[in-house]
Amino acid sequence: MKWGICGAGFVSQDFCTALRLLNHEDHQITAVAARDIDRAWKFANEYKIPKAFGCYEDLAKEPTVDVVYIGVINTEHCRLSLMMLNNNKHVLCEKPATMNLMQLQKVINTAKEKKLFFLGGLWSRFFPAYEKIRSALNSKTLGEVRYVEAEFGRPIIHSPRLHKPELGVDKCASIILIYKGGRMTNLMYHTEIQAKNNAVIYGTKGLIEVPCPFWAATKVKINGDEMEFPLPTKDAKFNFINTAGFSYEAECVRTCIENGQLECPLFPHSEAITMMTIMDEVRRQLGVKYDVDDIEP
Ligand SMILES: NC(=O)c1ccc[n+]([C@@H]2O[C@H](COP(=O)([O-])OP(=O)(O)OC[C@H]3O[C@@H](n4cnc5c(N)ncnc54)[C@H](OP(=O)(O)O)[C@@H]3O)[C@@H](O)[C@H]2O)c1
Repeated sequence: MKWGICGAGFVSQDFCTALRLLNHEDHQITAVAARDIDRAWKFANEYKIPKAFGCYEDLAKEPTVDVVYIGVINTEHCRLSLMMLNNNKHVLCEKPATMNLMQLQKVINTAKEKKLFFLGGLWSRFFPAYEKIRSALNSKTLGEVRYVEAEFGRPIIHSPRLHKPELGVDKCASIILIYKGGRMTNLMYHTEIQAKNNAVIYGTKGLIEVPCPFWAATKVKINGDEMEFPLPTKDAKFNFINTAGFSYEAECVRTCIENGQLECPLFPHSEAITMMTIMDEVRRQLGVKYDVDDIEP
């Protein structure tokens, strides 16, 4: 499968490094686009990509590309996903897929109309540790799940990006979700503290502990029994923690597209919509509004 890379920033670097961990016959990168042509060529030379473009539209029109990885800032995800889909490219877009539910529905509807694959990159789900968690939950090893807690906190408040609410960022919150049958979730995110960054799933007969970083886990403890799932390689250099694990996500995207699946069974559109509905409601309760909330995509 032939990938195009949209945006030449930190996360795109990690995604390309992760693609190199996979079989070259299965995953080739044929083009990259950045807002600046010199930056695009610098990236292309570093990752041995044959074509580079100085605008994203040119990537959308590039015939050698089957699927585009969108690794740009959050506020551009919807516009660029629509641009790629409208030019008949499959899309893997970094998370969050869009800024709000209205945008996500537009992107999903466009992908459906064009009969193209679209995935918002919830990469955690593709890690082998999460496969293990799913099978433990399905086999009722924990009994009935009653409570989940997860926390994500890093002292990144000084990053300039976090002082621009228009880019879709927020400082901290604690979120309690209450489900049918007395089930609950307690979630926390914070930009001023170093949290434990772990997650725990509690059932009536036991618990699953997912140690730091729970979103890119290589270890999981099920009722005290610890299992390890090493990343494909430790040699390659990455900007973000455990992003060698992007390779799991990329491989799943390839399998889906080659099988003619338009959405990923591990993160179907219906679940993406549920998740975005919750995120919109969390923002409403916090009083965090984006300019695009009032604009039809
Ligand atoms: N899954 C993960 O673990 C993970 C980790 C980190 C980030 N992410 C996600 O990846 C995305 C990018 O994050 P990043 O850390 O790579 O960010 P970054 O390096 O700051 O920016 C990514 C790219 O955004 C593009 N961009 C487009 N319009 C822009 C504008 N108006 N201002 C600034 N940049 C603009 C730039 O592309 P050009 O090269 O074209 O200039 C830049 O290279 C975000 O959505 C983030 O949530 C995911």
